[in-house]
Amino acid sequence: MANDKIWLSSPHMGGNELKYIHDAFDENWIAPLGPNVTGFESDIKKYLGGNVEVAALSSGTAALHLALIMLGVSNGDEVICQSMTFAASANPIKYMGATPIFVDSESETLNICPDQLEIAIEDRIKKGKKPKVIIAVHLYGMPYQVDRINTIADKYNIPVIEDAAEALGSTYRGENCGTFGELAILSFNGNKIITTSGGGALVTKTEKMKQKAVFLATQARDDAPHYQHSEIGYNYRLSNISAGIGRGQMEVLDERVSARREMFEFYVNLFRDVEGVRLFSEPSTDYFSNHWLSVLTIDSEITGFSREDLRESLAALNIECRPLWKPMHMQPVFEDSPFYGTGVAETMFDHGLCLPSGSNLSDNDRSRISNAIKSHLKKDQ
Ligand SMILES: Cc1ncc(COP(=O)(O)O)c(C=O)c1O
Repeated sequence: MANDKIWLSSPHMGGNELKYIHDAFDENWIAPLGPNVTGFESDIKKYLGGNVEVAALSSGTAALHLALIMLGVSNGDEVICQSMTFAASANPIKYMGATPIFVDSESETLNICPDQLEIAIEDRIKKGKKPKVIIAVHLYGMPYQVDRINTIADKYNIPVIEDAAEALGSTYRGENCGTFGELAILSFNGNKIITTSGGGALVTKTEKMKQKAVFLATQARDDAPHYQHSEIGYNYRLSNISAGIGRGQMEVLDERVSARREMFEFYVNLFRDVEGVRLFSEPSTDYFSNHWLSVLTIDSEITGFSREDLRESLAALNIECRPLWKPMHMQPVFEDSPFYGTGVAETMFDHGLCLPSGSNLSDNDRSRISNAIKSHLKKDQ
C-alpha cells in the first residue's frame, strides 16, 4: 500500500530464526539458558574475531549495568560518559549511585571528543576525584576515535566501557567494534542492525570475566547444593527463545550491514547536489560504519529549510525520521551533572536528522522516500 508507514529501522528476519526457536521447543529449553544461548554467544565471539568472550544478556542496558559493577564503580564515584547518546548509556551510572560527567562530541564522527575528554579528566582530578570509568559510544554505527580515546584512557589509567550497541558489524582499522574496550556492550533491541526482540551482550577479554558476568546475571548463586549468596545478583540472562532469534540473525548479519550501507549511498546520491546538507560518512579509511542509521545535518541558512521542516514533510507522507539523540547534559533528569564541551553536540542535535535506514526497505519504499525528499527540496527553492 502506498501509505504504509516507512519506519526508521524495523526488525528484519532472515528465515532461520523459527528453526532455532522450534529446536528450543522440541528440546524443552524454555529457559534463560540452553543450546541457543551458548550457540549465540559462540556465533558472536567468532564474528568478533575469536579473541573475546561473550555473555548473552537480557538487554544492552543490563550489560552496561554489569560492566560498571565489574569495574568496581560504587556510590559517590564519577563516570565519564559521551553526552550525545541514548539515555541507556548513562542511566546505569545512576543505578550505581555514581555521578555522570558528560563530555561533548567531535564533529567528524559525532562521538566523544578526545580534547574535551582530557580536559574533563584533568579538571575532575583537580577537583579531587579521578573518574572511575569512561563510557564511549559508536553512535549510529560510526566508530569513535578509538586510538585517541585509548591513548588518553591509558595515560590516566581509566578503563573504557565501549558502548557498541549500535555498531555490530562496524570496524576501526580493520578491528571489530565490540573489541576495543576493557568491556564492551552490544544491543539486540528491535530497532538494531540485528535483533532478538530484546537482548544484549557483554563482551569481555577473559573467560574469568565472562563467568563473573554470568554469575551476576543469574542471581549471584554461590557454588553450593542449596541457595547460597554472598553478593547481590541480577536476573539478566538472555532467554533460550530470544537467543534462537539471535542465531538466525547472525547468519544474515553481513547482508544486513551491506543493505544499510546501500541505504546510506542512496542518501548520498539523493543529496549530492544539495548545498547545506551534510551526510555523516566515514572520516577516513580507518573507519568502516555499519551505517545502522543514515544521519545528516542541515544548515538552514544555506538550504532555506530546517531539520524540522524536512522531518515534518516526510512525516506527513508517513515516512519516519527522528532528530539525533538529545544530548544527556540537556536532559532534565541529568541537569545536575557536570558537562565539558563547546556546543558541538547541541548544534548537531539542533540540525541533525536520522533517515529511514532499515535493511528491509523495498525499491518502492526508496522511491517514496526519494519523491518525498525531492518534492520538499523543490518547495524550498
Ligand atoms: C547507544 C546505546 N546504548 C545502549 C543501548 C541499550 O540497549 P538495550 O535497548 O538493549 O537496553 C542502546 C539501545 O537501545 C543504545 O542505542
